[in-house]
Amino acid sequence: MDSAGNNCLLDARGISREFQTSEGPLEVLRGIDLQVYQGDMMAVVGESGVGKSTLLHILGGLDRPDSGEITLMGESILERNEAELALFRNRHVGFVFQHHYLLEDFTAIENVMMPSLIAGHSVTEASRRAEQLLAEVGLSDRMKHRPRQLSGGEQQRVAVARALVNEPGLVIADEPSGNLDLKNGEKLHKLLSQLNISRGTTFLLATHNLDLARSCRKMVMLEYGRVKEIVVN
Ligand SMILES: Nc1ncnc2c1ncn2[C@@H]1O[C@H](COP(=O)(O)OP(=O)(O)O)[C@@H](O)[C@H]1O
Ligand SMILES: [Mg+2]
Repeated sequence: MDSAGNNCLLDARGISREFQTSEGPLEVLRGIDLQVYQGDMMAVVGESGVGKSTLLHILGGLDRPDSGEITLMGESILERNEAELALFRNRHVGFVFQHHYLLEDFTAIENVMMPSLIAGHSVTEASRRAEQLLAEVGLSDRMKHRPRQLSGGEQQRVAVARALVNEPGLVIADEPSGNLDLKNGEKLHKLLSQLNISRGTTFLLATHNLDLARSCRKMVMLEYGRVKEIVVN
C-alpha cells in the first residue's frame, strides 16, 4: 500500500532487457523498479529510444524481461505460460497504442464489444458495456461507423473504450496521442484523466510530450535504462 492506503497493482523489481543487434547486445533496461498503485495516473517519459515501449510491453505481459520480477494484481505474471498470460491480460490489462489497431471490417461498437465477448460475456452484456463506454468517450453518434469513417482522434477514443470494456485494473497506453495533432492529443489526455477520476481506472502511459506528462499526477523519468526520477505533481 502507499501512504494514502491504495493497493499496489503493479510491482516491478529489477527489470532488465537487452536486444541482440547486428552491432552486438543493446542493453535497453538496466534494472527498473516501479510500483503503480490503484487509481494512479502515471506517465513514463524519456527521450525517444530510451526504452518506454520496451518497459510498457514487459509490464503488461506482452514481452518478457531477461531478469526481474513482476507482480500484477497480486499475481506473479512471469511464471505463467503464453496462454495463461493471454487470458490474464484479457481480464486485467487494457492496452492503447499509438496506432488504434481497430479491426477495419467491424463497426466501432463491434470493436469495443470484442474483448468482452472473448472474456465470455453475452452479446447483450457486451453491447451494454460498449454502448455505455462509447457514450463516455463522446461517440454515441459514431457507434455504427467503421474505423475508416472516423477521424484519428475518434479512432483513438474507440481504442480507449475497447481497452476499458473488461474493466481492467490497469490500462497501459503507449504514446496514445502520438499520431494526433496537438489539439486532439490534449483532448485524448483529458479523456484519460476524466476516466481515471470517474471510473477510478489506473493508467500507465508513455509519452514524449512533457506538457501532457505534467498533467499526470505522477511522472517517471527514464534515462540510460534506469528510473532517473519520479515526480509527483
Ligand atoms: N526487438 C528489438 N530488437 C532490437 N532492438 C530493439 C527492439 N525493440 C526495441 N529496440 C531498441 O531498443 C531501444 C528502446 O526502444 P523503445 O522501447 O521502443 O524506446 P521508446 O519507446 O522510448 O522510444 C531503441 O534503441 C530500439 O531501437
Ligand atoms: Mg515507444
